[in-house]
Amino acid sequence: MRLAIIGTGYVGLPTGVGFAELGNDVVCVDKIADKIETLNRGELTLFEDGLEDLFRKNVERGKIKFTLDMQSAVCNADVVMLAVGTPPHPITKEADLQYIYAAAKELAQYLDGYTVVATKSTVPVGTGDEIEKIIREINCDADFDVVSIPEFLREGFAIHDFFNPDRIVIGTNSERAREIMLQLYAPFVGKTSFLLVKRRSSETIKYASNAFLAMKIHYINEMADFCEKSGADILEVAEGMGMDSRIGKKFLNPGPGYGGSCFPKDTNAMAQMGRKYGAPLNLIETTIAKNGERKAKMGLRVIEAIKSNPEGKIAVLGLAFKGGTDDCRESPAIDIVREMVKHSHNICVYDPKAMVNAKAILGDSVKYANSIEDACRTADVMVILTEWEDFRHIDLLKIKSIMAKPEIVDLRNMLNVDDVVKAGFEYQGVGK
Ligand code: UDX
Repeated sequence: MRLAIIGTGYVGLPTGVGFAELGNDVVCVDKIADKIETLNRGELTLFEDGLEDLFRKNVERGKIKFTLDMQSAVCNADVVMLAVGTPPHPITKEADLQYIYAAAKELAQYLDGYTVVATKSTVPVGTGDEIEKIIREINCDADFDVVSIPEFLREGFAIHDFFNPDRIVIGTNSERAREIMLQLYAPFVGKTSFLLVKRRSSETIKYASNAFLAMKIHYINEMADFCEKSGADILEVAEGMGMDSRIGKKFLNPGPGYGGSCFPKDTNAMAQMGRKYGAPLNLIETTIAKNGERKAKMGLRVIEAIKSNPEGKIAVLGLAFKGGTDDCRESPAIDIVREMVKHSHNICVYDPKAMVNAKAILGDSVKYANSIEDACRTADVMVILTEWEDFRHIDLLKIKSIMAKPEIVDLRNMLNVDDVVKAGFEYQGVGK
């Protein structure tokens, strides 16, 4: 099938490469000339585990192309996928739909023959209706249907999730569009569940799912606070809860709070929709407020750990919003470092992948290290903020020998408490 994908970000690029790998002819369109130039040179514009090999392979065999030219991509496509950003509006926190509407306006002129316009971007309920109206106003003869096909890829696992989805949701009332989407997703038949629903339900499923997961994280974080006061161990509690199949064991890892480009944005947008429709979503509102407070609280927890020497060096390990990605958008690690910067001028940070992105946000408010050792040398405390596998395998004795004071604040519960204590460190995890 011929596919045009509008937007080459964390959703558009892995999705494009995935569909190319499945044998489709994919053209990815972006407005940023630098990105298209880089991709056309055969280089990636973002880091995603497993993406590079598939990208190279499909570029070489001509299954995926990159262009600034919307017309050539759209007029030849059976399916046009919208994968542009829907960032939060700075004041209202609603999803800002200017990019998706601009893309709809532009592509409308070039639709040629029956085309499915499929929205992969996360958009508020009713956006499909609006896209349909925009296209119809600009090109009243166009033969098309707008479908909602929400994306559930996790960053860092985008390629894995593309090929192993939990479900494929197709939201449309058009039989013809549904058939085309089923054809596109035919390689997944028998491997996963398909859910065929109304477009508005499909748009809501994405937000309702992300908001639920965010709430689950908030719940376990609150339970971790409770365990710290009551003498229980959150890891044991989470394990016991997770054994109940109605609860499930995933997303019960306590930590510094959730972040990333999706959960903060989507919870805010969902809460805003609740207000708009006069159906308040109180659990989501509370989750948003408490997750914000948590990051400041965690920053102060680290400051408390160096109170005997407030000038002491703080070594920060991890800046990305989670392991396996270089993305620092809404990263709890960044917010925690910012909180610490209010109290300390001696912070040295390290992340295996996210240094460039972190530097663009933190500037010269902190020092930057080239390695775990470099960050920890002469430090009074080591703080783990992102769950990178490298951190799990830290050579504890070596690190202890170069630190000024053997103290660890592990906000991801990555290290084995017995090993750390045996190595002679003071240790604080979360919820223990
Ligand atoms: C999320 C959804 O999982 C995905 O389906 C959707 O398409 C996009 O949003 P992503 O933002 O990539 O994916 O990250 P995810 O792995 O879900 O983690 C989000 C945040 O929650 C991270 O900050 C992570 O560290 C945190 N988290 C996750 C926890 O603190 N504890 C957990 O148990 C799980």
